[in-house]
Amino acid sequence: MITVLKGTHDVILDEASKYTYVEQVLIRVAETYGFKEFRTPIIEASNLFTRSVGDSSDIVRKEMYTFLDKGERSITLRPELTAGVVRSMVNNKLFIEQDYPKKAYYVGPCFRYERPQQGRYRQFNQFGVECVGVNNSYRDSEVIILAYNALKMLGFKDITLKINTLGDEESRLNYKTVLKEYFKEHLNSMCPDCHERYNLNPLRILDCKVHEDQEIVKNAPKMSNFLTENAKKAFEEVKAILTENGVKYDVDDSLVRGLDYYSGVVFEFHYTSKQGKNYGAIGAGGHYNKLVKELEGPDIEGIGFAMGIERLVSVMNDDNLFDEIDLEDTMLDVYILPIGEENIAYSLSFANKLRSLGYATEVCLENKGMSQMFKKAERRRAKLALILGENEIKNGEVVVKNLALKEQETIKMEDLVEYLDEILIKEE
Ligand code: HAM
Repeated sequence: MITVLKGTHDVILDEASKYTYVEQVLIRVAETYGFKEFRTPIIEASNLFTRSVGDSSDIVRKEMYTFLDKGERSITLRPELTAGVVRSMVNNKLFIEQDYPKKAYYVGPCFRYERPQQGRYRQFNQFGVECVGVNNSYRDSEVIILAYNALKMLGFKDITLKINTLGDEESRLNYKTVLKEYFKEHLNSMCPDCHERYNLNPLRILDCKVHEDQEIVKNAPKMSNFLTENAKKAFEEVKAILTENGVKYDVDDSLVRGLDYYSGVVFEFHYTSKQGKNYGAIGAGGHYNKLVKELEGPDIEGIGFAMGIERLVSVMNDDNLFDEIDLEDTMLDVYILPIGEENIAYSLSFANKLRSLGYATEVCLENKGMSQMFKKAERRRAKLALILGENEIKNGEVVVKNLALKEQETIKMEDLVEYLDEILIKEE
């Protein structure tokens, strides 16, 4: 049997309804903040990611699905969407009128060749936003507030928001110099990856997950001691705005994020389900200062975040957050039971009429007995069963059974739409 590839999964049936629900809530929230949808390609030129996510990131060094296409071009399945969205803003000349910020939201699959584990897939879905063209603490805060409120809208209560600042260029330069000095003494006992990170970008060593390196990383100098006055001020402003808006956060000065384009405020949302499961960050993001310029756009800055839909759905399942949500919209309104083969054709066109009126309708197109058809209606979780036999059709009537209430009545065809509206719309 051919099965799904390692690190990928089918999202089907009720689970798919949950994905759709989560995505729709996130989209609705983003739209209330004035963000507009961007759909960018899943395949991009590989150098888009080496230039943006960065050569020193684990994503570029180890996790990209990269291949040569038939024209010998190096193509990569996107590991994230920020780079593609900013590229598309530049390609589509959205910055020409200098009407900032440009605000994009997106949803779609990403690919990373990671070791699959709880909450970590090789193909997963992200929802995210990018607010590009401004460098101001209000904009930074607004994006973090959006993410925080979106999680609240999904029903999350005790969200942990970790924030930190990577400062401005000068702060980072100072910090990297000090870090290099510190790690130089310890490098001999550290993992081979850290040797490479040391040369490419010592900040990445702070992300090292190797157990033996943890103690050394823990004792490394902290970014907060190397911030310029401007960088400190910007971070203080963001913190004050978050507090004013009721957003609780913890400053975590070991938070550096694994992608190279960040500068200024960075953040991650964490959540441990009541069962004690932690799927890793459910969302994360930060400010970027050189990304737009790096992709040949103007010298403007931006901020954004992305959330992993798989992780959100997993924790929501664990904490029963879907229980209070009406996913019934996705249920079937009407299941039609034709009595006898000769009434199937009529039922088929009758179903089409109901569908054109907006009712989700299915019809049993196989000649089956009544009890089998009722079972099918129940399995499909139809709200109403409509029975169409020779007598009903001749008399211009239909027998309607409310499957939840187990009540049955005969309705005149001309009254049916009003009847359905009454029952189905009242239920919503
Ligand atoms: P990221 O931290 O790499 O940031 O990913 C964002 C979120 O995607 C994570 O917090 C997690 O929920 C989800 N995620 C990442 N990898 C996996 C995986 N292998 N399996 C399941 N879920 C995963 C970014 O991608 C940045 N582009 C965020 C951003 C937007 N920064 C600025 N703008």
